[in-house]
Amino acid sequence: MLSNTLQQALNDQIRKEFHSSYIYLSMAAYFEAENLPGMAHWMRLQADEEREHAMKIYDFVLDRGGRVTLQAIEAPPTDFASPLAVFETAYAHEQKVTQSIHDLYALAVKEGDYPTQVMLQWFVDEQVEEEKSAGLVVAQLRRVGDSPAALLMLDQQLGQRAEA
Ligand code: FEO
Repeated sequence: MLSNTLQQALNDQIRKEFHSSYIYLSMAAYFEAENLPGMAHWMRLQADEEREHAMKIYDFVLDRGGRVTLQAIEAPPTDFASPLAVFETAYAHEQKVTQSIHDLYALAVKEGDYPTQVMLQWFVDEQVEEEKSAGLVVAQLRRVGDSPAALLMLDQQLGQRAEA
Protein backbone atom coordinates (compact mmCIF):
# COMPACT_ATOMS: atom_id res chain seq x y z
CA MET A 1 0.00 0.00 0.00
CA LEU A 2 1.26 3.45 -0.89
CA SER A 3 1.70 5.92 1.93
CA ASN A 4 -0.37 9.09 1.69
CA THR A 5 2.78 11.19 1.29
CA LEU A 6 4.05 9.08 -1.59
CA GLN A 7 0.63 8.89 -3.22
CA GLN A 8 0.41 12.67 -3.15
CA ALA A 9 3.93 13.04 -4.56
CA LEU A 10 3.16 10.56 -7.37
CA ASN A 11 -0.05 12.40 -8.21
CA ASP A 12 1.99 15.60 -8.36
CA GLN A 13 4.44 13.94 -10.75
CA ILE A 14 1.51 12.87 -12.96
CA ARG A 15 0.57 16.56 -13.17
CA LYS A 16 4.16 17.50 -14.03
CA GLU A 17 4.31 14.94 -16.84
CA PHE A 18 1.02 16.17 -18.32
CA HIS A 19 2.34 19.72 -17.95
CA SER A 20 5.47 18.67 -19.89
CA SER A 21 3.24 17.23 -22.59
CA TYR A 22 1.34 20.53 -22.75
CA ILE A 23 4.58 22.53 -22.98
CA TYR A 24 5.89 20.43 -25.88
CA LEU A 25 2.56 20.60 -27.68
CA SER A 26 2.72 24.38 -27.39
CA MET A 27 6.26 24.32 -28.78
CA ALA A 28 5.04 22.13 -31.67
CA ALA A 29 2.39 24.76 -32.46
CA TYR A 30 5.06 27.48 -32.44
CA PHE A 31 7.21 25.51 -34.90
CA GLU A 32 4.22 24.86 -37.18
CA ALA A 33 3.58 28.61 -37.23
CA GLU A 34 7.27 29.22 -38.01
CA ASN A 35 7.14 26.78 -40.96
CA LEU A 36 9.57 24.37 -39.33
CA PRO A 37 7.61 21.10 -39.68
CA GLY A 38 10.52 18.87 -38.66
CA MET A 39 10.89 20.56 -35.29
CA ALA A 40 7.12 20.56 -34.89
CA HIS A 41 7.12 16.79 -35.51
CA TRP A 42 9.93 16.32 -32.94
CA MET A 43 7.94 18.25 -30.34
CA ARG A 44 4.71 16.39 -31.09
CA LEU A 45 6.44 13.07 -30.45
CA GLN A 46 7.94 14.51 -27.28
CA ALA A 47 4.46 15.57 -26.14
CA ASP A 48 3.20 12.01 -26.79
CA GLU A 49 6.07 10.57 -24.75
CA GLU A 50 5.25 12.84 -21.83
CA ARG A 51 1.67 11.66 -21.85
CA GLU A 52 2.97 8.09 -21.74
CA HIS A 53 5.16 9.04 -18.76
CA ALA A 54 2.12 10.41 -16.95
CA MET A 55 0.18 7.24 -17.72
CA LYS A 56 2.98 4.99 -16.45
CA ILE A 57 2.72 6.62 -13.03
CA TYR A 58 -1.08 6.76 -13.26
CA ASP A 59 -1.22 2.99 -13.83
CA PHE A 60 1.36 2.35 -11.13
CA VAL A 61 -0.67 4.24 -8.51
CA LEU A 62 -3.78 2.23 -9.49
CA ASP A 63 -1.84 -1.06 -9.48
CA ARG A 64 -0.77 -0.31 -5.91
CA GLY A 65 -4.37 0.18 -4.85
CA GLY A 66 -3.87 3.95 -4.65
CA ARG A 67 -6.06 6.81 -5.75
CA VAL A 68 -5.29 8.93 -8.81
CA THR A 69 -6.44 12.51 -8.35
CA LEU A 70 -5.80 14.60 -11.44
CA GLN A 71 -4.89 18.21 -10.87
CA ALA A 72 -5.11 21.42 -12.88
CA ILE A 73 -2.41 21.81 -15.50
CA GLU A 74 -0.91 25.28 -15.71
CA ALA A 75 -0.81 27.05 -19.06
CA PRO A 76 2.33 26.48 -21.12
CA PRO A 77 4.39 29.30 -22.64
CA THR A 78 3.09 30.16 -26.11
CA ASP A 79 5.61 32.70 -27.39
CA PHE A 80 9.26 32.07 -28.03
CA ALA A 81 12.06 34.30 -29.27
CA SER A 82 13.65 31.74 -31.60
CA PRO A 83 14.02 28.00 -32.24
CA LEU A 84 17.10 28.09 -30.00
CA ALA A 85 15.08 29.70 -27.19
CA VAL A 86 12.50 26.91 -27.52
CA PHE A 87 15.04 24.12 -27.15
CA GLU A 88 16.85 25.96 -24.35
CA THR A 89 13.52 26.13 -22.51
CA ALA A 90 12.93 22.42 -23.19
CA TYR A 91 16.41 21.53 -21.92
CA ALA A 92 16.00 23.60 -18.74
CA HIS A 93 12.58 22.03 -18.24
CA GLU A 94 14.00 18.50 -18.48
CA GLN A 95 16.63 19.38 -15.88
CA LYS A 96 13.82 20.42 -13.55
CA VAL A 97 11.94 17.18 -14.22
CA THR A 98 15.09 15.19 -13.48
CA GLN A 99 15.35 16.89 -10.09
CA SER A 100 11.71 16.14 -9.44
CA ILE A 101 12.22 12.43 -10.25
CA HIS A 102 15.28 12.31 -8.00
CA ASP A 103 13.34 13.93 -5.14
CA LEU A 104 10.58 11.36 -5.63
CA TYR A 105 13.11 8.53 -5.60
CA ALA A 106 14.66 9.87 -2.38
CA LEU A 107 11.19 9.95 -0.81
CA ALA A 108 10.54 6.33 -1.87
CA VAL A 109 13.86 5.32 -0.28
CA LYS A 110 13.05 7.23 2.90
CA GLU A 111 9.70 5.46 3.11
CA GLY A 112 11.20 2.05 2.31
CA ASP A 113 8.82 1.66 -0.65
CA TYR A 114 10.70 -0.77 -2.93
CA PRO A 115 8.14 -1.10 -5.77
CA THR A 116 8.11 2.68 -6.20
CA GLN A 117 11.90 2.72 -6.34
CA VAL A 118 11.90 0.03 -9.04
CA MET A 119 9.23 1.88 -11.05
CA LEU A 120 11.16 5.15 -10.74
CA GLN A 121 14.40 3.54 -11.93
CA TRP A 122 12.94 3.62 -15.46
CA PHE A 123 12.38 7.37 -15.09
CA VAL A 124 15.90 7.95 -13.74
CA ASP A 125 17.30 6.29 -16.90
CA GLU A 126 14.80 8.06 -19.15
CA GLN A 127 15.80 11.47 -17.81
CA VAL A 128 19.41 10.84 -18.84
CA GLU A 129 18.11 10.35 -22.40
CA GLU A 130 15.73 13.29 -22.21
CA GLU A 131 18.46 15.72 -21.15
CA LYS A 132 20.84 14.29 -23.73
CA SER A 133 18.44 14.67 -26.67
CA ALA A 134 17.28 18.22 -25.80
CA GLY A 135 20.86 19.28 -25.00
CA LEU A 136 22.07 17.96 -28.36
CA VAL A 137 19.56 20.07 -30.30
CA VAL A 138 20.54 23.15 -28.25
CA ALA A 139 24.19 22.58 -29.21
CA GLN A 140 23.25 22.04 -32.87
CA LEU A 141 21.12 25.20 -32.97
CA ARG A 142 24.00 27.20 -31.49
CA ARG A 143 26.16 25.95 -34.37
CA VAL A 144 23.44 26.88 -36.87
CA GLY A 145 23.61 30.50 -35.66
CA ASP A 146 22.03 32.83 -38.22
CA SER A 147 22.23 30.48 -41.20
CA PRO A 148 18.74 29.84 -42.68
CA ALA A 149 20.12 27.00 -44.83
CA ALA A 150 21.60 25.21 -41.81
CA LEU A 151 18.36 25.74 -39.88
CA LEU A 152 16.34 24.09 -42.67
CA MET A 153 18.76 21.16 -42.79
CA LEU A 154 18.45 20.65 -39.05
CA ASP A 155 14.67 20.91 -39.35
CA GLN A 156 14.71 18.12 -41.94
CA GLN A 157 16.89 15.99 -39.72
CA LEU A 158 14.66 16.45 -36.65
CA GLY A 159 11.68 15.58 -38.83
CA GLN A 160 13.08 12.04 -39.12
CA ARG A 161 12.60 11.36 -35.42
CA ALA A 162 10.80 8.05 -35.06
CA GLU A 163 8.39 7.06 -32.34
CA ALA A 164 10.14 5.53 -29.34
FE1 FEO B 1 8.74 12.94 -18.64
FE2 FEO B 1 10.62 14.66 -20.36
O1 FEO B 1 10.27 13.85 -18.77
